[in-house]
Parts: sequence; structure tokens; C-alpha cells
Amino acid sequence: SSATTFYDEIGGHEVFVGIVHRFYQQVAADPVLRPLYPEEDLGPAEVRLRMFLEQYWGGPRTYSEQRGHPRLRMRHAPFVIGLRERDHWLAAMKVGVDGAGLDDEHRERLWAYLEMAADSLVNSLH
Ligand code: HEM
Repeated sequence: SSATTFYDEIGGHEVFVGIVHRFYQQVAADPVLRPLYPEEDLGPAEVRLRMFLEQYWGGPRTYSEQRGHPRLRMRHAPFVIGLRERDHWLAAMKVGVDGAGLDDEHRERLWAYLEMAADSLVNSLH
């Protein structure tokens, strides 16, 4: 085992801020994704996703302190997420991740998780 976490290894808070900020810039301009987000201001959603990813990768546990157990399937149930929505989400996230300039090992590990997580949240074959 190692004393450092993936969160630390890739550069901590600022790197997660950057990934999620670029992701939401894509969401804001995406005609498939943008209508899914219930609030006009994407800022609070940006903070929630950033806190979740920081916690998942070994950073601060602020997400659960504020939001409780993640329960991502349940929290996404109000939104119709088909293959098209998943693909747009992943395309937006790819812009976010690519902009972080991670080394191949870390980028591949992060990306494998994000693809798995996005697949797991598909809840409609509309
Ligand atoms: C919240 C869409 C995948 C993590 C949301 C929200 C929408 C959404 C519309 C509500 C925004 C808000 O108010 O926070 C989607 C779509 C996906 C997707 C279309 C495509 C598959 C993912 C993935 C993750 C994730 C892969 C994690 C790796 C979250 C989190 C929240 C959230 C943490 C906030 C939950 C809360 O605390 O309320 N998502 N999402 N989402 N999403 Fe996703």
C-alpha cells in the first residue's frame, strides 16, 4: 500500500477543479445534455460532481458530509439517460480529462472508471 492517493498523485484539488470545470463548459454548450440539468445555474452541479470525484479518488470526504451516501443510480433516476446521453456525457468528460495533461497510466485509470460509471447510469433505452 501507499501513503499517497490517486487524488494526490494527479495533483489534488486544482486538477479536479479543472477537469470538472471544462466538463461543465461542454455541458453548457451541449444540446443533448444541457436540457437535462434542472437548474439554470450549473455552478452548484459543478461543485457536486467535483466533490464526488475528489472523494472517490481518495481526497476530502466533503461530498458525503454535505450530500450523504452517493447513491448515483438513484440520484440519476429522474433523468432519462440513454446511450446518446451517455455518449455526450463521456465526450464532454473527455475534454475535461484531456485538458488535465495526466500521464498515460493515471489518465487510463481515470477514464476506465468514468466509462464504467457512465455505463452503469444508463437507465433508458428510449
Ligand atoms: C448529478 C446527468 C453520469 C455523478 C447529475 C445531474 C444530471 C446528471 C442531470 C443533476 C445535476 C445536479 O443538480 O447535480 C448525468 C448524465 C450522465 C451522468 C446524463 C451520463 C451517463 C454521471 C457519472 C457520474 C456522475 C458517470 C460519476 C462518475 C454525478 C453526481 C451528481 C450528478 C455526483 C450530483 C448528485 C447529488 O449529490 O445530487 N448528473 N450524469 N454522473 N451526477 Fe451525473
